[in-house]
Amino acid sequence: MTAVKKIAVLTSGGDSQGMNAAVRAVVRSGLFHGLEVYGVQRGYQGLLNNDIFPMDLRSVGDIIQRGGTVLQSARCKEFYTAEGQQKGADILRARGIDGLVVIGGDGSYNGANKLSKLGINTMGLPGTIDNDVSFTDYTIGFDTAVSVVVDAVNKLRDTMSSHERSSIVEVMGRHCGDIALHAGLASGAETILVPEVPFDMDEVADRMKANFAHGKRHSIIIVAEGVGKGEDVAKELMERCPTYEPRVTVLGHIQRGGTPTPFDRNLASRLGDFAVRSLIAGETDKGCGIIKGELTLTDIDKVVNTKKDFDMVTYELAQRLSQ
Ligand code: ADP
Ligand code: F6P
Ligand code: MG
Repeated sequence: MTAVKKIAVLTSGGDSQGMNAAVRAVVRSGLFHGLEVYGVQRGYQGLLNNDIFPMDLRSVGDIIQRGGTVLQSARCKEFYTAEGQQKGADILRARGIDGLVVIGGDGSYNGANKLSKLGINTMGLPGTIDNDVSFTDYTIGFDTAVSVVVDAVNKLRDTMSSHERSSIVEVMGRHCGDIALHAGLASGAETILVPEVPFDMDEVADRMKANFAHGKRHSIIIVAEGVGKGEDVAKELMERCPTYEPRVTVLGHIQRGGTPTPFDRNLASRLGDFAVRSLIAGETDKGCGIIKGELTLTDIDKVVNTKKDFDMVTYELAQRLSQ
């Protein structure tokens, strides 16, 4: 069993709301357990630049409620190379840092996996709005991103109803339809287009026509970016039924900003503390998750090589309820 004494924390890949709450939890839990805790600025790039500094209780004050990440994030090409990874491990070792908590998505987890093979004890925390990390029901930031989308759809509904129009809302999620699905169910979207489920544009158009015919005054279609551009969906709908004048809204990076929801703050706090306790217990090369309310550890290799199941039951429910 490896007893870690000095640990570091970094945020990497696309940022997400709640990363700050996770950093705070790692730092405060580490200090509580008598560890020295360091922050790495700008993800793996900062690691390779040796941009590493000690963190104390006050360095994470007043951040639990902030979006973004005080440690900043980066994408780092050099870290994909074996030389880059070795350099990163050497830099940590030279400072006596024997544990690293990486907050990010699957790419960042891969980096942590490489470092663990070079003797650094690593823990991954799922920080991404996409909810595309497996072996956790939720990723940090997902709930906040969903709330941003629902808030936007609420507003769009007002104006679409006044004009009896259809609204095409393009949301994030490169390979994962979870934001579209959860925001779609919560906002009563009529159609949810996700990369995991094939669809027929004629059926989408027929459904819209039928719904307007039986008295609906608006139509909300949520498109995960992994499916294609909202503009293209609107064009295809225009060709099939121009009456309902589709209007496109691309929510973009708005979905990655703003204060994290209580759910994300609490998830981040629990997972951050769990990552530290797991390192202290001698665990390494693990992704931390929450499954049915229980904190879990899974080998990073397994996390990054397993595709998360899409929740078809909820998808079908959303369709049934939005007639
Ligand atoms: P995310 O963590 O959100 O999936 P990326 O896929 O962009 O974001 O990964 C973030 C960073 O993690 C990359 O810029 C790179 O530095 C590092 N990384 C990604 N994949 C690997 C890999 N296979 N080996 C080593 N480092 C990696
Ligand atoms: O992975 C998170 C995510 O926000 C995706 O939903 C989106 O496709 C991508 O990152 C955007 O990346 P960038 O911030 O580099 O434009
Ligand atoms: Mg990724």
